[in-house]
Amino acid sequence: MTSRVLVLNGPNLNRLGTREPEVYGSESLADVEHAVRNLGTELGLEVDFRQTNDESQLIGWVHEAVDAGVDVVLNPAAFTHYSYALRDACALITSAGRRLVEVHLSNPAAREEFRHTSVVAGVATGTVAGFGTGSYLLALHALAR
Ligand code: DQA
Repeated sequence: MTSRVLVLNGPNLNRLGTREPEVYGSESLADVEHAVRNLGTELGLEVDFRQTNDESQLIGWVHEAVDAGVDVVLNPAAFTHYSYALRDACALITSAGRRLVEVHLSNPAAREEFRHTSVVAGVATGTVAGFGTGSYLLALHALAR
């Protein structure tokens, strides 16, 4: 049986590849998607991969995941640090008994002070950060176990 996983990406991640490559690497979001889809197939996970720059859209997708009862891998990007609205939506995932893996390409704890706070972490099942595209792949492995 194939389980569905929603892989959601927040603002500015559509700029990967050219956005601060010294921090985020040279892979584009399409490259990340490709790697995630390939591993998903290998692990028997049906991957639904999306990106938006819009907070309201992202919250809508989280609600969709809750209603569909699917696990979520989420890179909340800058919303990580201040969006209580996204955090409240994310709390619905874990309180519904589904899993939420927060992922980051970089390691926010090793960067500017404002990145040290994640308002999402406290309602996530777990967090993977600092491994570039590998953060997403580790998250999929965790969900497939
Ligand atoms: C990020 C880290 C955030 O601090 C930043 O705002 C991003 C990307 C990451 O994947 O490393 O946009 O979530």
